[in-house]
Amino acid sequence: MAAMAEGQRIAIIVTGGSRGSGEAISRRLHDDGYTVAVLDLLAPDYLINTGVVQHFSHVDVTSASSVSIAVQEVLDAFGMVDVLCNNAGVSTMQRVVDMTEEEWDFNFSVNTKGVFSMTRAVLPIMMRQQRGVIINTASMAGVKGLPLLAHYAASKWAVIGFTKSVALEVAQYGIRVNAVCPGFVRTSIQERELAWEAQS
Ligand SMILES: NC(=O)c1ccc[n+]([C@@H]2O[C@H](COP(=O)([O-])OP(=O)(O)OC[C@H]3O[C@@H](n4cnc5c(N)ncnc54)[C@H](O)[C@@H]3O)[C@@H](O)[C@H]2O)c1
Repeated sequence: MAAMAEGQRIAIIVTGGSRGSGEAISRRLHDDGYTVAVLDLLAPDYLINTGVVQHFSHVDVTSASSVSIAVQEVLDAFGMVDVLCNNAGVSTMQRVVDMTEEEWDFNFSVNTKGVFSMTRAVLPIMMRQQRGVIINTASMAGVKGLPLLAHYAASKWAVIGFTKSVALEVAQYGIRVNAVCPGFVRTSIQERELAWEAQS
């Protein structure tokens, strides 16, 4: 992350910042002095009440119109968007042979289309500013294959391809686009996966 000069404000959007890794990201950014906006399906009341989060907008990242409204609300609140952490994500576990179209679409609509819609909404702001950073949360499942997670893995491989391509498109505006690939993190996603494995 960019080093901050004294008195400088850096405004950061964290999608899915209400719980799990997103909550930890929001807390760490706040502790490091950044101004944090969380965009999530769930309101992070405890983070707002304790001053960790300066702005919350309800968003469903699968809906381009919801994304557009939420990003405008952040712009109205902060007047700028310096960093976007595209962290919101879902996962389910299923054998490909048993997988429904709905399950495939659910993973892609949040993990991949959500990253696209959020990126498309903030890029005009960052291009005007001639600066910005976008960090997409992919996964180790986006660089290797995993049984029972073919749909999730494919959605995260897509995030990496998207990230590399957009990075080349917008570098000329001073905008950096990168992806991170976490391994196992004990959050509600993992609780669901462990419960699924225990039943199988
Ligand atoms: N937990 C892991 O082991 C692990 C490993 C690799 C990558 N990841 C990735 O890290 C990111 C965070 O995962 P997590 O483990 O913290 O999950 P989590 O389920 O604990 O939190 C996900 C957050 O995203 C929000 N969210 C879900 N769908 C949304 C939607 N349609 N619109 C807006 N917000 C939505 C949820 O409300 C929640 O706050 C995800 O992209 C996930 O794929 C997780």
